[in-house]
Amino acid sequence: MSDLKKIKEETLSKLRSKLDLSQINELKSDLFGKNGKITNQFKKIGSISDSEKKKYASELNIIKDELQTLINLKISEIEILEVNEKLQKEKIDVTLPERPIIRGKIHPVSQTIDEISSIFSEIGFSVEEGPDVENEYNNFTALNTPDYHPARDMHDTFYLDEKKQKLLRTHTSPVQIRTMIKGKPPFKIIAPGRTYRSDSDQTHAPMFHQVEGLHIDKDINMGHLKGCLNYFIKEFFEVDKIKMRFRPSHFPFTEPSAEVDIGYKIKDGKIVIGEGDQWLEILGCGMVHPNVLKNVNVDSDKFQGYAFGIGIDRLAMLKYGINDLRAFFECDYRWLNHFGFDPLDVPTNYRGLSR
Ligand code: DAH
Repeated sequence: MSDLKKIKEETLSKLRSKLDLSQINELKSDLFGKNGKITNQFKKIGSISDSEKKKYASELNIIKDELQTLINLKISEIEILEVNEKLQKEKIDVTLPERPIIRGKIHPVSQTIDEISSIFSEIGFSVEEGPDVENEYNNFTALNTPDYHPARDMHDTFYLDEKKQKLLRTHTSPVQIRTMIKGKPPFKIIAPGRTYRSDSDQTHAPMFHQVEGLHIDKDINMGHLKGCLNYFIKEFFEVDKIKMRFRPSHFPFTEPSAEVDIGYKIKDGKIVIGEGDQWLEILGCGMVHPNVLKNVNVDSDKFQGYAFGIGIDRLAMLKYGINDLRAFFECDYRWLNHFGFDPLDVPTNYRGLSR
């Protein structure tokens, strides 16, 4: 067999076997590279006798073209095969179930604080904050609760030092003091936040939440207090009418003082707020005591006003049908999933204002 035929047969047999892209490129340079078998055949032409030269050259060209065409065909065949294999491997399986989307929920207490803040902001209250660690003066003395006052015992205070100078605030009322010390009247603020007392059962937790309200101006009276609380309760519980009563009470920082009850009834095992002949205590309030104003350098001959303190957790429990206060603070993910709020699905009376 002539050299040319041998080269052709060998190449054809290689092309029949399974080749990948690198193997076929290798075969290509084996034939047509600088030292390739076909290239070398061309180099040989010069040494062939004149009579044979023409025939040999034409045969060589034919074989060269033929092999080149076959190799190029094979290359594109392999390329198509590789693309198909890749597509097969990367195919998206639309029958796979989606991965679960876990979206966080807003805690009912946070939600309630947002609702309370937005309701009061509608009637001109701004939101103030104070620290959880308070001093004895702001928490008690400035609020007209001197050392010997029995109200101190009612508070079951967590003291943080032996001298009883630092404590975890037992109510949000010290924010009244902080606000009035740093500013000038008039004041119209609410102050939601955490409060602490050494107490724990189904309706008491050592950490709980209150919102303080304070409105001081030239002629603010108890009628304003009643109107403001009436508006708030109606808005909060989303009712048109509310049964509400003010019971005389005592707080060292207000005179006169009152506790506010709202009417309710149980219908089909559920609590209905605003009607009925049962009463539920929801807050304490009163006209700010002149001694408190004196302690923060506000002239009580010129300025007066009211204050109130509302238990937030209690309101949240009533509105959202939660019956154990301790569940609020147990961090049970399943509970939060049930009672929490979808951040994108806020209740109807929420006005989009946050703390
Ligand atoms: N600080 C009181 C408490 O924790 C609640 C309270 C009552 C706040 C009357 C007030 C108020 O501002 O005027 O029990």
